[in-house]
Amino acid sequence: MTHTAVDVIRAKRDGHRLSDAQVDWVVDAYTRGLVADEQMSALAMAIYLNGMDDAETARWTRAMVRSGEKLELDVDRPAVDKHSTGGVGDKITLPLAPLVAACGAAVPQLSGRGLGHTGGTLDKLESIPGWRARLSVAEVTAQLRDVGAVVCAATEGLAPADRKLYALRDVTGTVESVPLIASSIMSKKIAEGADALVLDVKVGSGAFMKDEARARELARALVSIGVEHGLRVSALLTDMSVPLGRAVGNAVEVAESVDVLRGGGPADVVELTLALAAEMLAHAGIGVDPAAVLASGAAYETWARMIRAQGGDPDAPLPVGKHKHVVEAPEDGVLVSLDAYAVGVAAWRLGAGRARKEDPVQAGAGVLCLAKPGDRVAKGQPLLELRTDTPDAVPGALAALRGGYAVGDTAPVGRPLVIDTVRG
Ligand code: URA
Repeated sequence: MTHTAVDVIRAKRDGHRLSDAQVDWVVDAYTRGLVADEQMSALAMAIYLNGMDDAETARWTRAMVRSGEKLELDVDRPAVDKHSTGGVGDKITLPLAPLVAACGAAVPQLSGRGLGHTGGTLDKLESIPGWRARLSVAEVTAQLRDVGAVVCAATEGLAPADRKLYALRDVTGTVESVPLIASSIMSKKIAEGADALVLDVKVGSGAFMKDEARARELARALVSIGVEHGLRVSALLTDMSVPLGRAVGNAVEVAESVDVLRGGGPADVVELTLALAAEMLAHAGIGVDPAAVLASGAAYETWARMIRAQGGDPDAPLPVGKHKHVVEAPEDGVLVSLDAYAVGVAAWRLGAGRARKEDPVQAGAGVLCLAKPGDRVAKGQPLLELRTDTPDAVPGALAALRGGYAVGDTAPVGRPLVIDTVRG
């Protein structure tokens, strides 16, 4: 049967489910330029308004995977991947990948750069002198065999339909659709060739999904697509109303991750790293206690090898922003709130993030949270340290922080860091 873009748009506009053939055709034709951007925009809006069911979403994902190449990772240990929907201070990939590799799995982490208030893993790692994000498929495979972990840039050939569609959604108000987000994330992960995947779906002001019900809906959709594609998959729903750890930026987050790998670091970063590691190891069928491996120093050794394998010097001093500005506690009391979104925007404005994908980032810029909610503070005590190479950025960062923290009498009752686990 022959299809036309208008027929497919009309079907979804009128609330019908798309057939497998319609999905396959429209995704392929759009990738090849036979369906125009304005037609795909109309279809994306119809999907945004009328949704797609689980089977439709799984088929849409399959079509996006098939629009490009699929990596065949020829490694001799179970390959397990992690994906986070993004947050403020979310450096977990940095300690997690070498930890899970040190426990015996292969961890291929094809990552992205940051856009807006959430940071990107590659931007963080690029603050390490010499470190290189671009690897060939042969280099990825060799490093997985040799070191067990690799964090690098995704190749252009993976899910090109998603790249094209995501750019279109960004400018047509159609990003915030659960089936479109879920198929976008999962098409890239399936194309990367992992056979097991743990998703970290963030909930709260610093996350994509601000409320728990929407985050749960996304987690369920992601897991359902994974199951349809034969993956071992689960999703942790985790809190992102407060920045994760104390460091938000690039080099500062690498330094904090190294602290964790050396057996220290903030309790929340350690807790989430271990929770995700335990879930990944369960999928990989490896019965090793990640806490013991972290304490043994083996994860740090794997980190150093992983950085060296990509040209970086794990012992080199990290860049530090040239200009510092301290925000002090306005009164005696308890820090009752520290809003993740406010801190994320402040770090971004200081130069740690980018507004457009071609913008550069400053390796040394960011925010250090010197107190976290629940800590007692005295008037004049430093609460936040802002770092940047461009002092003109400080007023904008301070404006972002206005109303983003509060000192009061009573310690807040926060939600647990790991709120729930969604399994297939
Ligand atoms: N991240 C993605 O990769 N895709 C989306 O649609 C949203 C977030």
